[in-house]
Amino acid sequence: ASYDMGGHDTYMHKEISEQPDAVDRVLRGRIDDRFSTVHLGGLNLDPREARTIRRIKILGCGTSYHAGLIGASLIEGMARIPADAEPASEFRYRNPVVDPDTLYIAVSQSGETYDVLAAVQELKRKGARVLGVVNVVGSAIAREADGGVYVHAGPEVCVVSTKCFTNTVVAFALLALHLGRIRDLSVTDGKRIIEGLRKLPAQIEEILKSEDEIKQIAAEYAGAQSMMFIGRVRGYPVALEASLKLKEISYIHAEAYPASELKHGPLALIEPALPTVAIVPDDDLLEKNRAALEEIKARSGRILAVAHQPQAKADHTIVVPKNEDELDPILMGIPLQLFAYHTALAMGRDIDKPRNLAKSVTVE
Ligand code: AGP
Repeated sequence: ASYDMGGHDTYMHKEISEQPDAVDRVLRGRIDDRFSTVHLGGLNLDPREARTIRRIKILGCGTSYHAGLIGASLIEGMARIPADAEPASEFRYRNPVVDPDTLYIAVSQSGETYDVLAAVQELKRKGARVLGVVNVVGSAIAREADGGVYVHAGPEVCVVSTKCFTNTVVAFALLALHLGRIRDLSVTDGKRIIEGLRKLPAQIEEILKSEDEIKQIAAEYAGAQSMMFIGRVRGYPVALEASLKLKEISYIHAEAYPASELKHGPLALIEPALPTVAIVPDDDLLEKNRAALEEIKARSGRILAVAHQPQAKADHTIVVPKNEDELDPILMGIPLQLFAYHTALAMGRDIDKPRNLAKSVTVE
């Protein structure tokens, strides 16, 4: 593979820009319109087995863990299988109950992260079935797993993950749809999700066009000491990932909280010097999210909203195109990659090589 920057100043910028093509690749050849489902060739899970799964546990680290959190909500929502995600690094050290009716899914860009690999090996030693959602073909985790879904994001060079995060979430949407259609998801809902998936590349392209506007907004937040990121349910992992991205490359301290938890503590921090980034999709929680913005405004907190329509209480809104509710988190994360990028750039940071971090952590 060629690792040429293709006219971009950084790999991160190149990789953010590649997302419409990357998403196109993870979808390619997998959609089955006739049965409103998707085929995942490497899954190695027959429908009868898929129907016996009682629970799904997703394991990953860092950005991959965040993708797994969205994956869990996609699977639970579409396949109605209880699912959750946990940092692989924690799972391994807490002597977890390994249950034969649980399907384990290991998520990793590199496929070489030691904490994830060791969790997979421990699970396999205990007889569990483990799938991989992995980017690097033939990597250690991909080889160790019983089957899985390749993410097909292409090579990712920048230490912070962007296109691979997006593609991993899309891969989870495919897996959720596949499992859903074996279980209780209707043909109509299957079709609705497929149509939504097909819209993603063009919608991402549209978001990328707002880069100049995002750059201007980022310039206003670049001096902040600390930032708060909030979202509810599906929006919360988006907040977690956006805050991690900002921390990693700008070194601004950032915290992510479920918006619903603000009043249980972090509201004490809100004041003009602590800006909040809020994920505000047009879904059944819109009014709840707006109430949180009001709480913040009442304490003179500055607000940057990522939303489907301008938010009156926000100082800035980055408006993103609407997709199906389930798939909205995929799109809402993208402007915040650009936000982290331009904030870090305005602060003169080394974007592709943030201090103290390695692309993949292959040791304990
Ligand atoms: C990504 O922004 C980070 N470099 C980091 O959190 C990363 O996601 C984590 O180390 C896991 O890596 P993996 O996906 O290659 O397993």
